[in-house]
Amino acid sequence: MSPVDCNIKRPTPPSIIQVLPAEPLLLMGAGPVPVPAEVARAGSMVINHLGDTMNLVVDGVKEMARYVFQTCDDKIYGISGPSSAAMEMAMGNLLWPGRKVLVLKMGTFSNRFAEMAAGVGAQVEVLEAADGQPVPAELVEKKLAQGQYDVVTTVQGETSCGVWTRDLPTIACLAHQAGALMVVDAVCTLSTMPLKKDEWGIDVVFTGSQKGLSSLPGVALIAFSDAAWELLQRHPGPKPHWCLDVTRAQNFWGNHTYHYTAPVTGLLALYEALRLICEEKLEHRFARHRHSSLALQAGIAGMGLNLSIALEHRLNSVLAIDIPTGADGARARRYMAECFKVQISESYGRNIVRIGQMGEQCRSPNLFRTLHALGVAFTHEGIKLDLSRGMAELEEYLIQHAAGVL
Ligand SMILES: Cc1ncc(COP(=O)(O)O)c(C=O)c1O
Repeated sequence: MSPVDCNIKRPTPPSIIQVLPAEPLLLMGAGPVPVPAEVARAGSMVINHLGDTMNLVVDGVKEMARYVFQTCDDKIYGISGPSSAAMEMAMGNLLWPGRKVLVLKMGTFSNRFAEMAAGVGAQVEVLEAADGQPVPAELVEKKLAQGQYDVVTTVQGETSCGVWTRDLPTIACLAHQAGALMVVDAVCTLSTMPLKKDEWGIDVVFTGSQKGLSSLPGVALIAFSDAAWELLQRHPGPKPHWCLDVTRAQNFWGNHTYHYTAPVTGLLALYEALRLICEEKLEHRFARHRHSSLALQAGIAGMGLNLSIALEHRLNSVLAIDIPTGADGARARRYMAECFKVQISESYGRNIVRIGQMGEQCRSPNLFRTLHALGVAFTHEGIKLDLSRGMAELEEYLIQHAAGVL
């Protein structure tokens, strides 16, 4: 008798090299982003998931994550999974039936908190922002005065529409005054702009590896304050998740013992990505991101395209650009990819395209290539733009403000 089922055809697929485009696309969308060579190299190695070498990697990742999150927290965890897994770890450990969360909603990702909180049986209230704006601190203050919440959630940057929660430090302070824990999604913002976990009183903050940190997708990072750690100990159980149970994660991240097989390659890459951030220094990294984004914004506006979000609410890490009337955004993006090998992102139901300004995206050659491709693609769509002026504005900004930064 045959050891294999003859009814199941053996596939003969092409090799991955044949699957991938001959020339890789420059990833200028909302993530993942390009990774430095050191990170790519680190991510190509496999070591054992337990033992002395891995202990050094884990301790190093925790120490560097403390710097990047700006915290003295001990309870820092890497998670095998996307950023959403970190969000799920926060919601699944801090919330359960009988507990109440206030979700500040500005778009797709801030609303994901509400979906996850409902999934673990918590009572959820959503405070929604006006279109293209963050939820202002005054509105949060009013809402917190009307009810008792255990947790307040928000995003520092809402990637789906490019909105920045400028009031984050005030909102965290209000949440604390109201006796609630503050949980923050810093997925598209960490290491691209200031975030001071301890000073601002944030209890839980998390990020993914594939955006500002410029590492390989697949490992998320999360930090818990002592107050959050204390509260989650009171979970009545059973916990809804096993992999995402923080107390189990403490086995690996606190005690160097087995929880599940760690994402070894992703952790090695993350170690290297964090090391490069420490080497660059946060102050310089923030300046690089800010100037890169502002230069690109000057170029986009200079050629006659409209940045969707008003300046005071605009997120620098992900830019939303209105698709001009008469143009087809999907076709323009495809044109950019085919003709210029530049990939930017689609929208989440909005009439926009999005360009990322995170990590390795913020290098001047990438700005010129992306802006030029964007301008030509929309010109090809029949839109009248001043491409030369846009390119000149980009260059002028860099000369005036960003010499030696980018
Ligand atoms: C702000 C924000 N939160 C959460 C997520 C979810 O990230 P992931 O796709 O890694 O789960 C994203 C992804 O773009 C994001 O931008």
